[in-house]
Amino acid sequence: MTEQDLHHYAVEARERAYAPYSHYAVGAAVETEDGTVFTGCNVENAAYPQCICAERVAIFKAVSEGHRRIRRLLLVTQDGGTPCGGCRSVMAEFGTPETEVIIATPETIIKRYRLGDLLLDGFEFRHDA
Ligand code: THU
Repeated sequence: MTEQDLHHYAVEARERAYAPYSHYAVGAAVETEDGTVFTGCNVENAAYPQCICAERVAIFKAVSEGHRRIRRLLLVTQDGGTPCGGCRSVMAEFGTPETEVIIATPETIIKRYRLGDLLLDGFEFRHDA
């Protein structure tokens, strides 16, 4: 799977975002240890705390299908937005400090991070999922 392919999947997922409240569409594509890709979009709710981020939708889809180890996650927003703290924690639960987090717009890749730099010394990395 090339980074370009992963970007394509995340862009497609973003088109399915359900964001009538924030109007901020987010798409994510996560690549698991064996190369399988799962996608997610943000899904909002009139009861705002029930909104869920695109990254968590993608990761929970992977875990619920038996894929617990994530190698890369690519995130697409209109302006190169970065993952919220909650999603960093969830990524750390199923990733490692070396898991790659790629930030993009629909047009281009903006930046690449190590998850360990986004969540320095995260407690969540101690889990062997
Ligand atoms: N959102 C994500 O999907 N991922 C993030 O990392 C940050 C925020 C969503 C949640 C909400 O639906 C909208 O973006 C605005 O916060």
